[in-house]
Amino acid sequence: MTAPANPSEAMPYRNANLAVDVRVEDLLARMTIEEKLGQLNQNAVDRSLTSEQALETWSGPVKAGKIGSFIVGPSGPALHNRLQRIALEESRLGIPVSFGYDVIHGYRVIFPITLGLACAWEPALLERAQSLAAREARRSGVDWIFAPMCDLARDARWGRVAETCGEDPYLNSLCTAAQVKGFQGSNPAAADRTAACLKHFVAYGAVTGGRDYNHTEVPESILRQSHLPPFHAGVKAGALTVMSAFNTIDGIPAAASHHALTEILRDEWGFKGFVVSDWGAIDEMVKWGYAKHGGEAARLGIEAGNDMDMISGHYLNTLPAQIQDGLVDQKTIDTATRNVLRVKFQTGLFDRPYTDESVNAFAEPIAQADLDLARECVVRSTVLLKNSEDVLPLSKNLTKVALIGPFGADRREMLGSWMGYGRTEDVVTLAEGIAAKLADPAQLRVVLGCNVNSTSRTITLTDGTIVPDENAEQADELQELDKATQAAQEADIVIMALGEPCGWTGECASRSSLGLTGRQQELFDAVTLTGKPIIAVVFSGRPLSLPVVLEKSAAVLFAWQPGIQAGNGVADLLFGDAFPSGRLTASVAREVSQVPVYYNRYKTGRPSPLSTDYRDLTRNPQFWFGYGLTYTTFAYSPVEIVPATKEHPATARASITNTGKHEGHEVAQLYIRQLACSHAVRPEQELRGFQRIGLRPGETAEITFPLTGEVLGYWGREGKWHIDAGDYHIWIAPQAQSGDPELLCFH
Ligand code: BGC
Repeated sequence: MTAPANPSEAMPYRNANLAVDVRVEDLLARMTIEEKLGQLNQNAVDRSLTSEQALETWSGPVKAGKIGSFIVGPSGPALHNRLQRIALEESRLGIPVSFGYDVIHGYRVIFPITLGLACAWEPALLERAQSLAAREARRSGVDWIFAPMCDLARDARWGRVAETCGEDPYLNSLCTAAQVKGFQGSNPAAADRTAACLKHFVAYGAVTGGRDYNHTEVPESILRQSHLPPFHAGVKAGALTVMSAFNTIDGIPAAASHHALTEILRDEWGFKGFVVSDWGAIDEMVKWGYAKHGGEAARLGIEAGNDMDMISGHYLNTLPAQIQDGLVDQKTIDTATRNVLRVKFQTGLFDRPYTDESVNAFAEPIAQADLDLARECVVRSTVLLKNSEDVLPLSKNLTKVALIGPFGADRREMLGSWMGYGRTEDVVTLAEGIAAKLADPAQLRVVLGCNVNSTSRTITLTDGTIVPDENAEQADELQELDKATQAAQEADIVIMALGEPCGWTGECASRSSLGLTGRQQELFDAVTLTGKPIIAVVFSGRPLSLPVVLEKSAAVLFAWQPGIQAGNGVADLLFGDAFPSGRLTASVAREVSQVPVYYNRYKTGRPSPLSTDYRDLTRNPQFWFGYGLTYTTFAYSPVEIVPATKEHPATARASITNTGKHEGHEVAQLYIRQLACSHAVRPEQELRGFQRIGLRPGETAEITFPLTGEVLGYWGREGKWHIDAGDYHIWIAPQAQSGDPELLCFH
């Protein structure tokens, strides 16, 4: 018998001209049960290992076909290629491994955290940022990105608020779809794209008490109305993978939720990709007290529809015996393997498995266009919350400026909790950004003031370990306080760079308070005593509650964790080279005791403030979702409802005028309320549209929103979209809870 001239004739799965499903079935038919389970097993390349050590550890299991995917460390394409070569040339069937990584807000070019990016209210900007991140990641050998995060952020104590797009399902859905497009483009196999991963399915944002990894108490009606829509939007946008969450859903760990992973994701939504568990979540079923042991956890996970086991190893180690004993059906394993292989074909791993090592994402200086995008993102995501007497923008001819606070000259803090392969040396600090604007940079005095927290500075590693940050500058706090007040006294204007350390945000970093950390409040109070005007720039991974800072500063900007162009972007705003246009995507609580606080809350049967407020505090936040100032002002006309005709749906219309002296962008927001809904009570207000418009002083624009069933309807608890005839309130407003509604009678 002569060997076929072309190996793909003998192995059709290697033939790039065949349809993906044909290739998947051909390969599946050749696989042993162990090889199938290998595809469902994900390990991590330990960051502390050298490449040689990593190879020594992993080449055996890869050769044996026991690893379908790696979470990568800072290893780069050379190590990936070497591991891939073993997979392709030394394993029996030559199935490539996939390399996944958390590229949450940038790979090397670090953008503002997602919470900040969402404040641009411009999904296309998120798409651009994530497509740059995908390009850099893929060039470094990463073919799968564990983002976008689709969880809702309604409790600012939860550290992972930083990774979300805020509290609203509609905005979150648009941002999710845009990010999926950014990562995957139209062809996830392209050399500059990756697979996306919608996480964490589902309701992780509802962890009780804002404590990470906690259980959730989310009834089906709210799951449907609020938590599921962003994931649904991501599935519709073509996301290839989904990550199940750490939390429980109605008492069941998410990785074992047949309801979420099979009934909703696959049966209702038709999802064709694969589901990976979160880190060790299969094993955590045992710790929850749900499964008796790892074997049972593996069975519950795979049967629920969780295809891949991240880290715990229970699929690989326990399922062969369970299949043999008839406890787990082979067909279940085949389905999961099919799902994983399909994505590997779709991301081009079989046809272009290696990464070009000559393109090193770190060797080159960052391209100017990429820096410009990162700077634009800082400008767009920063939210101006206060600007008394138009103290901003500042003049570049100021003679004496004091920049006080632990975030003014810090590089690491600008990168945020996830930082990809971001480097501190790429960061432009606020001090550098301001100095570059001043006619005489020597007039800038920079004082640390205090440390970011009261103990020593720490950073949280991806595995959750907290270690001292050796690069952090430590202040001698007593001396610094004196220096700060003296600098303030001598200055014409004081810019204070305050906030919370990035190690207190992100995963495993919930907080019980929402104020400034360490001695920053003391520092702020001391500086206010000098009577000098203060511009507060706040760096944080969550909407902090800062009533005193808000009251006593002349201007306040929330700049989040802005990434490598932090200093340039914020300075552009401070000195009027750009105008602020960011809008909050998470309401700002007055005090931590108010959380969870969000605009799309429920009315209660006794909605009057007397009944629903606290005795000692309003229930309303300090700033509503959607709020944000710019350097000009806008006036809205009353909303007008134009009735439906045979050809067109009803529309809501309003005109907006720039009544100030500067050019600006307004984000006009459409809110609705269904006045009576007997299926399940609907929120007090729901965002269902928005438009960003640029207006010069004196200019007016008319905006319209069609009031279609898509705008007015809602998800019922049985998973159906309902559109009810009846009465609705309609607002077109600059933020939630403002403006007068108009009545729409929808029939
Ligand atoms: C996080 C995920 C992340 C995964 C892999 C987990 O601890 O919850 O968001 O993608 O680790 O790094």
